Amino acid sequence: MIAGLDQEQQRAAQAVRGPVCILAGAGTGKTRTITHRIAHAVASGQVVAGQVLAVTFTARAAGELRSRLRQLGADGVSARTFHAAALAQLKYFAPRVLGGPIPPLVENKARLVAAAASAVGGHPDRALVRDLAGEIEWAKTSLIAPEDYRERAAAADRHAPLEFAKVASAYARYEQAKSDQGALDFEDLLLVTAYSLESHRDVCDEVRARYRYFVVDEYQDVNPLQQRLLDVWL
Ligand SMILES: Nc1ncnc2c1ncn2[C@@H]1O[C@H](COP(=O)(O)OP(=O)(O)OP(=O)(O)O)[C@@H](O)[C@H]1O
Ligand SMILES: [Mg+2]
Repeated sequence: MIAGLDQEQQRAAQAVRGPVCILAGAGTGKTRTITHRIAHAVASGQVVAGQVLAVTFTARAAGELRSRLRQLGADGVSARTFHAAALAQLKYFAPRVLGGPIPPLVENKARLVAAAASAVGGHPDRALVRDLAGEIEWAKTSLIAPEDYRERAAAADRHAPLEFAKVASAYARYEQAKSDQGALDFEDLLLVTAYSLESHRDVCDEVRARYRYFVVDEYQDVNPLQQRLLDVWL
């Protein structure tokens, strides 16, 4: 199984138990090492394939992981993006934690952001809508609420598309409009999943029993929102 790895990669792949961090440059075989590590753990009977969750950032990377794992004979391992993993879990336990199905995804996010931009005096052209949406995403993935945005954005020296006070106000309006629609955006999906697991011990125990072995490719890119989800999973 690990014959296709060099010596250092083999050492990393054979370290099955306990936390392992693989630090190496671009294109040096990190993903190759983690897929072999998973396959080795499964093939050697140390880990049950169905209890492994490999997480990545893009659907493409998740697909790549899945096909590499399949080639290595590690069928039954879940390889998903953070969003897909959160969505699948939330769907499953939504009746218990939300009292019904998952609210729909926000239909026209750009329109909500544009309306919020106009309301704070911005001219909602495409560039502003894109940049403001990006800034709101930054705040949400950094776990920063609208009322804290001003201070935190200043501390982080953000290059925001509008004055911080205006972004904060637009962010609050966007959240309100979304909540009036009864809809969630992508970041809410992760937030609601993390919050649900944090506040429902039984559900959290079930998820933790289901997945016992986590692997994150490109961990350096994990944002605080994704880290919060990882923390509850672990
Ligand atoms: N020991 C090895 N033997 C043969 N090929 C290898 C070995 N290590 C890495 N490679 C090849 O090098 C290429 C890069 O590997 P991989 O994608 O795993 O690197 P990475 O560190 O994850 O890259 P990135 O920084 O782009 O994520 C792949 O084609 C992989 O198969
Ligand atoms: Mg890689």
